[in-house]
Amino acid sequence: MDQSTDTNAAIWKSEEGAQYWTAKTAEREQKRAAQWQFMGELLPFGEQDAFTFLDLGAGTGAAARGILELYPRSVAILTDFSSQMMGEGERQMQQFAGRFGYVEFDMSTSNWPAAIPATVDAVVTSMCIHHLSDHRKHGLFAEIFERLAPGGWYVNYDPVSSPDRVVEATWERVNDRDDPEAAGKRLHRTPQEQSRHENHVRYVIPLDQQLDYLRSAGFQGVDVYWKHLENVIYGGCRPT
Ligand SMILES: C[S@@+](CC[C@H](N)C(=O)[O-])C[C@H]1O[C@@H](n2cnc3c(N)ncnc32)[C@H](O)[C@@H]1O
Repeated sequence: MDQSTDTNAAIWKSEEGAQYWTAKTAEREQKRAAQWQFMGELLPFGEQDAFTFLDLGAGTGAAARGILELYPRSVAILTDFSSQMMGEGERQMQQFAGRFGYVEFDMSTSNWPAAIPATVDAVVTSMCIHHLSDHRKHGLFAEIFERLAPGGWYVNYDPVSSPDRVVEATWERVNDRDDPEAAGKRLHRTPQEQSRHENHVRYVIPLDQQLDYLRSAGFQGVDVYWKHLENVIYGGCRPT
């Protein structure tokens, strides 16, 4: 796909795109808080350990908040390419003032800014890897591996696709039970909703392919540590 048909940057770097996302913050917190906390539990730290972690594609910081809450002496570096999302994040993160900072980083490039330390203790991503081309998913995983301290973990929470149509249909059927309005919404999208949907699914790929990217980057302990329908939490660590 060429850059002109990839609407990702245009959507996230718009007031409308950021507002659409932030308007549903409370609903998402209720649905996903347990997963963000679980991502923290996967990190091999004691409750009082001091460590620095990265939340890439952090948006308004939901995943980082889960981890900062779990580990009161941890510090987060949040990155994103959207000033609109980072601006809203600064507001939503206020309870953690002094323990976090935002850095602009476009993950579609491998130009990591100097403000991101060369070595960090852990890296998390939530609901953003599916916005990257396969080439960049693979490249980013290798770059994360290089940044991790020995023994450091990378954990990703994201949707995946399935090559099996029956599986995809089952995910849809079960999701529709949860949200009886979902089927109607699918059939009657406004042009903006359709554009956001296309952006959401553009680079969603099967789970195995992503686990292969992790293994080929050198990660150990690679597993799917949580899964519900199309949503997964997988990760691995840099060998000590
Ligand atoms: C669906 S939101 C998820 C935000 C947050 N991680 C969460 O779980 O609530 C996707 C985020 O990824 C960011 N994003 C998308 N593509 C990106 C890229 N190429 N580089 C950096 N951030 C990106 C968007 O700006 C947005 O904040």
